[in-house]
Amino acid sequence: MSMRALVTGGSGFIGSQLALKLEKDGHTVTVMDDFFSADPGNLKAFTGRVIRQDVSQDFDTDEKFDSIFHQAAITDPRHPNDDEVFKRNVNGFKNILNLAKNHGSKVVYASTAGVYGNGPVPMKEEQDKECTTSYALSKLEMEKIAKDNEGQVHLVGLRYFNVFGPHEIHKGRPASMIYHLWKQMREGKRPRLFQWGEQIRDFIYVEDVVKANLCALTATPGVYNVGTGVGTSFNQLVTYLNQAMGTHFEPEYFEMPFDGKTYQHHTLADIEKAKRHLHFEAEWKMGEAVKDYVSFLDANILVP
Ligand SMILES: NC(=O)c1ccc[n+]([C@@H]2O[C@H](COP(=O)([O-])OP(=O)(O)OC[C@H]3O[C@@H](n4cnc5c(N)ncnc54)[C@H](O)[C@@H]3O)[C@@H](O)[C@H]2O)c1
Repeated sequence: MSMRALVTGGSGFIGSQLALKLEKDGHTVTVMDDFFSADPGNLKAFTGRVIRQDVSQDFDTDEKFDSIFHQAAITDPRHPNDDEVFKRNVNGFKNILNLAKNHGSKVVYASTAGVYGNGPVPMKEEQDKECTTSYALSKLEMEKIAKDNEGQVHLVGLRYFNVFGPHEIHKGRPASMIYHLWKQMREGKRPRLFQWGEQIRDFIYVEDVVKANLCALTATPGVYNVGTGVGTSFNQLVTYLNQAMGTHFEPEYFEMPFDGKTYQHHTLADIEKAKRHLHFEAEWKMGEAVKDYVSFLDANILVP
């Protein structure tokens, strides 16, 4: 059935992919974004309404929404201003919750696997949290607020692991490693990895993340991991890229510039809860997703 949906942060990476998919599925979609870290070009094919609004400021809207997909946030885990991260991410979420209460809307909101820090793997939703950045803390605070509002609004939080795919380039440094390594290799350079490339991430393709958001509308309210349940080391990532690009680059290793405590060395989603109650399982296998993304980048992005 067709619904009226609001996508906050809808000109960003995940938000734009979600807005376009919702529109393609026949829903009436409104995007709200203040273009803090967005690429307006991501919405080239979007025909719905775009409202320029900072959701962390008081606002009202004349539209009523059945569902709100809240993606708007400061998304750089190393953003230098902790107060700004908290203000935008937490106040923004509170405003969206109020809007949902007024409209009787369902809310699906983006959280992060950053809340697990360097906790044990596979990471289970209920395990102790080890937030090491203000970004992760702001997301955990959003989850706490959601818990306090349980029963009043249909609320589903999605802890995304490392998302990659088309529409992410405007993010710059916080864009995925897959993009950065592809760019280095396209420029004929060896891909640069932290010593010794053994760090592991649960990378997930953006198409699967969009699917998880749609599953959330009919899921049991709560918080879920959105990962694949498969870890890929940085060295393996270079192998996938070489295969997709037809190249034979060896990684060039350099010393990790970050404090080892704030850097996540190994992330891996436990996907059992999401399978059972979100009815979500990622479909893309890593090698295939990298191949698909490389085709997109080669066709759309010019590298000097
Ligand atoms: N990409 C990932 O790997 C990843 C991982 C974990 C969680 N997340 C979460 O997913 C969501 C989407 O992230 P993304 O990767 O698409 O990043 P992004 O930076 O491309 O998208 C964020 C969007 O929100 C907008 N925005 C920021 N603050 C706003 C505000 N106060 N009001 C209105 N718009 C605002 C930005 O302009 C941008 O369009 C975020 O909540 C992020 O924290 C992403």
